Amino acid sequence: MARHLITSAIPYINGIKHLGNLVGSQLPADLFARFQRARGNEVLFLCATDEHGTPAELAAAKAGKPVDEYCAEMWGIQAEIAKGFRLSFDHFGRSSSEQNRKLTQHFAGRLAAEGLIEEVTENQVYSNGDGRFLPDRYIEGTCPNCGFESARGDQCDNCTKQLDPIDLIDARSTISGSTDLERRETKHLHLRQSLMKDQLNDWIESKHDWPILTTSIAKKWLHDGDGLQDRGITRDLSWGVPVKKGDADWPGMEGKVFYVWFDAPIEYIACANEWTDAKGLSDADWQRWWRTDMGAQDVRYTQFMGKDNVPFHTLSFPVTILGSGEPWKLVDYIKSFNYLNYDGGQFSTSRGRGVFMDQALEILPSDYWRWWLLSHAPESSDSEFTWENFQSSVNKDLADVLGNFVSRVTKFCRSKFGEVVPDGGTWGAPEQALIAELTTRIRAYEGHMEAMEVRKSASELRAIWAAGNEYLQEAAPWSSFKTDPDQAAAQIRMALNLIRLYAVLSEPFIPDASAALMTAMQTDDDTWPDDVAAALGALPAGLGFTVPEVTFRKITDDEREDWQTRFAGVRD
Ligand code: 2FM
Ligand code: ZN
Repeated sequence: MARHLITSAIPYINGIKHLGNLVGSQLPADLFARFQRARGNEVLFLCATDEHGTPAELAAAKAGKPVDEYCAEMWGIQAEIAKGFRLSFDHFGRSSSEQNRKLTQHFAGRLAAEGLIEEVTENQVYSNGDGRFLPDRYIEGTCPNCGFESARGDQCDNCTKQLDPIDLIDARSTISGSTDLERRETKHLHLRQSLMKDQLNDWIESKHDWPILTTSIAKKWLHDGDGLQDRGITRDLSWGVPVKKGDADWPGMEGKVFYVWFDAPIEYIACANEWTDAKGLSDADWQRWWRTDMGAQDVRYTQFMGKDNVPFHTLSFPVTILGSGEPWKLVDYIKSFNYLNYDGGQFSTSRGRGVFMDQALEILPSDYWRWWLLSHAPESSDSEFTWENFQSSVNKDLADVLGNFVSRVTKFCRSKFGEVVPDGGTWGAPEQALIAELTTRIRAYEGHMEAMEVRKSASELRAIWAAGNEYLQEAAPWSSFKTDPDQAAAQIRMALNLIRLYAVLSEPFIPDASAALMTAMQTDDDTWPDDVAAALGALPAGLGFTVPEVTFRKITDDEREDWQTRFAGVRD
């Protein structure tokens, strides 16, 4: 049994995420976690909220709440919505946890001991208008690299370049809009990433099977321009992990906190510790996933994220892990995604543009969204959500292909044989041909799922569903029933077994529909079809079943137009 540690990039706490965020990390991570569990592997699937830093502070201020209260509330909301989308996290943690505070301070202490932290007196942006130092994200201006006008102080959303606020052209405060900014001296810690450049380079170069998107971004930041820069990892804020060296105070760093991007990835580790604490397990139980001296040498660790997160996961976080000099588990595979656009433009949290996770669940059950998003995942390039495409994919794939198959088979059986798997007849050439086709397709599906090729997996699954319809069309039990009821019985027995097979194979994509089909087929045998012929005999003659409620309904033109209008504007 293989052991899979799977993490999704942890979403910022500042509000409900849109569908573009969902498809860029949490949803494909869930797909992979469900698939690995279905194959009988041991999985630890973790996610959390990213609660520190200025986005949290800004959002709390906007909501008129103390930041800790705001975060607790938003964590609850995000956790509930994640359940609504059936995201099967083993634990949904919080980067503001006690476990993360301890670990973050621990790593800082280790990095300092290894000579990887430098104390630097900096000139930082102080806003006279706001009476405070402005952290990166409170500063906006024009990107010196690409000319994008709303680049943030730490990163340009347009070209993904990591920035220093000093580099921005026409900088202004995002709190007050004030341009009365000046530089003042303050002491900060820098992570000396540049010292590990060669080690990181060798590591990235060895990852031949990683998506090009991941390695190309990593290599760009390793080699372009001035190459890998040392990064400030502390901020003049009150909300965050207080700067300490392990348990010890850090002279000169009083009142400062670690930069959110320093503690956020450490939460991947802390989250495992939150999980064991919540379950009353021991430290060894999380360390066997994270410490290579405690069992994690057998773990395969996969991270999922959007492309803007790649530099932090390929460079900065590995510096923390490797630089600690301790046997922590390093990521084995980074699956990254391009962006999903919304109807001719970008999804935008700050501008409230697009469909947000809570809104999506208000209009349709999660399976509809899961199917569309995953089958259109922005893997090789950006992809686009349009209501027309959503309607046609749902109606064709889910309602016509899968839903219709289930409904035809179960209703026909009920009317001719009753609600029981019929007995009689044997398999002939069409059934053997179907088994051969399904065997090829299922092996291909497994290969794509294992490789996290999300779109290819979806299209193979769709072809597996379609093979059932084609078989049914050819076998035509409604005709054979008239001349040879035994043959019709064998055909329908095959078709009912296909429903169970589809439920098992489709579970990672559409877990609710899959559960409903299993219930209708009155089975809990979710054995993976290693042997397809055997799998198609799992429901024996004589077993009862019920005709399921409509598995997937069609989206009408009226609904589509209605939603198009409703989501055309911005959300407040
Ligand atoms: O981009 C984001 O939404 C970040 N909150 C992701 C952090 S992932 C990791 F570092 F924890
Ligand atoms: Zn730019």
